[in-house]
Amino acid sequence: MIAIPDGLVRTTVDREGAPGAAWIAELPGLAAELLEHWGCVPDGVATHGGVGLVLPVRPGTGHPAGRTAGRTAVLKVSFPHPGNVHEPDAFAVWAGRGAVRLYERDVERFAMLLERVSPATLAEVRDSDEVVTVAGRLSRRLAVPAPPRPPGCPPGLPRLSDRAPDWETRLRADAASLPHALPARTVAAALATVRDLARAQPDLLVHGDLHARNILRAEREPWLAVDPKGYLGDPAYDGGTLLTAHALTLLDAADVRRAILRALDAFAEAAELDRERTRRWAQLHAVQAAFRGRRHGFRRARSGPERDRLTRYADQLAEVLTSG
Ligand SMILES: Nc1ncnc2c1ncn2[C@@H]1O[C@H](COP(=O)(O)OP(=O)(O)O)[C@@H](O)[C@H]1O
Ligand SMILES: [Mg+2]
Repeated sequence: MIAIPDGLVRTTVDREGAPGAAWIAELPGLAAELLEHWGCVPDGVATHGGVGLVLPVRPGTGHPAGRTAGRTAVLKVSFPHPGNVHEPDAFAVWAGRGAVRLYERDVERFAMLLERVSPATLAEVRDSDEVVTVAGRLSRRLAVPAPPRPPGCPPGLPRLSDRAPDWETRLRADAASLPHALPARTVAAALATVRDLARAQPDLLVHGDLHARNILRAEREPWLAVDPKGYLGDPAYDGGTLLTAHALTLLDAADVRRAILRALDAFAEAAELDRERTRRWAQLHAVQAAFRGRRHGFRRARSGPERDRLTRYADQLAEVLTSG
């Protein structure tokens, strides 16, 4: 029987409650069925991220020559949440360019068989300039035009611009219920970004959750992306995700403001993105994080003094990016 990592059990049950517990209970059987279906056997210990089980696998003996013939792979099974629907669609568009290859997918079970690369992530690299430069170059590589969709086909990748009205409503509600959290001009700048940049966006493929733990060491390219949400929109959105996540590693820098702005400059240059546009998306992300932290805490700390420290830091990040 496939052992499900404790960390995945805990985070899924904490976040999803009873449906999460029910899915965890089914997961060993589900994984075994998928392995059987794709003719694979386990080839190492399972790991996980925020939402999915990742199991190293290899083709079983007598496996018919298929796309995985002779190759090592990982089986990824994600919690069945709408946010995880388009992950295989994004992999299919990239076809291995800048991201791991998709070998097989099972839409109903939220499962994929993916090219296996090293489990080491960009988050293990200590040098801030290197982290943001690698992520920036990758972001540039992933920003490909949306593939044309023949008429009558089901809806393809969701558009980030469709989320703009919700972002605006949420920002206004947060600003009203938490009036002393952030200066009015900081919230106004985030609302202006939603208005100016989020409502109409280009039709480029956006990873949607680009942070250093979703960038893995590889051989056929030095780094490859995993775990995309898969949106169409402005690639500078990924700059916002990356920089707000990366900023946490700069928390103890001697000059935090300088370190943040330096990371912004290096990312924008490597991604070939307009610096101001990237700054504004990152500022919006930071403001959203500052409010969300007050409502729900952070992945690193849901409550207590560490949550308070991270909230103060998100506030500082929002400030630096507002004036930067
Ligand atoms: N294709 C892969 N090859 C090797 N390791 C992988 C692969 N995909 C994921 N992993 C490992 O599993 C971890 C979680 O994967 P990820 O797709 O980010 O899951 P989640 O959606 O749960 O965050 C990664 O950080 C990495 O260590
Ligand atoms: Mg992940």
